[in-house]
Amino acid sequence: MDSRNYSLADFISSSNMDIMELAKQFNEYLEDIHLRKQLQSRRVSLSGSGPEMDVIDPYDGHVRHMINMASNDYLNLTKHPKSVAAGIEAVKKYGSGAGSVPLLGGTLDIHIELEKRIARFKGCEDAIIYSNGFGSNAGTLAALLKENDIAILDMLVHASINDGCKGIKTEYFRHNNVSSLEKILKKVKDHYRTKLVVVDGVYSMDGDISPLDEIVNIAHQYGAYVMVDEAHATGVIGEHGRGTPEHFHIEGRVDLVAGTFSKALGVVGGFVAAKKEVVRYLHYFSRPYMFSTAQTPQTAASLIAALDVIETEPELRQNLWDNIRYFRKHLLEMGFNIGNSQTAIFPIIVGDDYKVREICRELHENNVYVNPVQYPAVPRRLSRIRISLMSAHTRQHLDTVLELLESLGTRYGILTPKVAEIL
Ligand SMILES: Cc1ncc(COP(=O)(O)O)c(C=O)c1O
Repeated sequence: MDSRNYSLADFISSSNMDIMELAKQFNEYLEDIHLRKQLQSRRVSLSGSGPEMDVIDPYDGHVRHMINMASNDYLNLTKHPKSVAAGIEAVKKYGSGAGSVPLLGGTLDIHIELEKRIARFKGCEDAIIYSNGFGSNAGTLAALLKENDIAILDMLVHASINDGCKGIKTEYFRHNNVSSLEKILKKVKDHYRTKLVVVDGVYSMDGDISPLDEIVNIAHQYGAYVMVDEAHATGVIGEHGRGTPEHFHIEGRVDLVAGTFSKALGVVGGFVAAKKEVVRYLHYFSRPYMFSTAQTPQTAASLIAALDVIETEPELRQNLWDNIRYFRKHLLEMGFNIGNSQTAIFPIIVGDDYKVREICRELHENNVYVNPVQYPAVPRRLSRIRISLMSAHTRQHLDTVLELLESLGTRYGILTPKVAEIL
């Protein structure tokens, strides 16, 4: 099979093929990408997340020492001594697992402490915590919305939000476009019981920020509630890293502040901060909370320590922002199309799936770890290389990557010189 003629969209199981046959054909597709040395997914790290990473080369089995430009560990808290030590102490004290689901024996005192800490950090009355971020979003939405309700989603929200709204009446508005949202709100305002607008604070494939202040105003004007997914905003934006509501000075005005513990906080899990009674409702009706074992003790303890670090070591966020400004300035000067990126996530938009895979192959061979993002995850004309920055990247890391990108960008013809737009 020639993989250039196919994409993941051709292998979605709604085709006529039996699933075993479909899986076989999909494997042939992946095999062809592998033969072209373009298969980048599931590369194995021997060292964990950090600005540099030891990675097993999938083609010759040797260990490559690489610059890691692919992690969501924005503040490098996965290896912060306080977070690591707190996790180790928790395992010694409580053991390796919580032993049960939260409602039936699995709730530890450190889970309650974490709920209180994340609620306070987000300026909300209370919070529910989950063992993963995907289930947190999907389970919360499925619990809150029913027949006669409507979800109104930004067209680029995360997959977990789309999955949570399956089977529920859903409308999409144009990305970050408040007029498009208002049109929908006008149309639906008298026809549904609960109306919930859901957006991401920072978009995971674009790095742009939602105009949350305007969204909250317009939604409330039409009697709709707002939920924001703060996965990539928590720890990164807002003066104290409290996220998008802090960035726009609207803390306390967003009805549901969701997020993950897996990005800047450097562990795993999800949360939803809201009014006390909503949180209590979710304890009994959100299925991934009710029917799934509570977070491990290590997770909860490392997260409490990570929140302490975010509150007491602002220099980590300042370093990250120095890196963001530096990298952004140089990418724009070189003429890369980085969309509306305003945060630590940089889409290098190439607009050709095959070129994206070739550039990523060359970056891999030069020991730079990045990820290709292609159709159907994004439209073909917007296929891209996704780069994310960390606080611990040095100028040398950034310069090495920038130099390589410039030479590849020139060779593959993807640069359009323009005046730098400096933050
Ligand atoms: C915007 C957004 N929301 C939710 C999630 C799910 O979070 P987790 O990976 O913690 O399950 C992700 C994860 O990748 C994400 O990017």
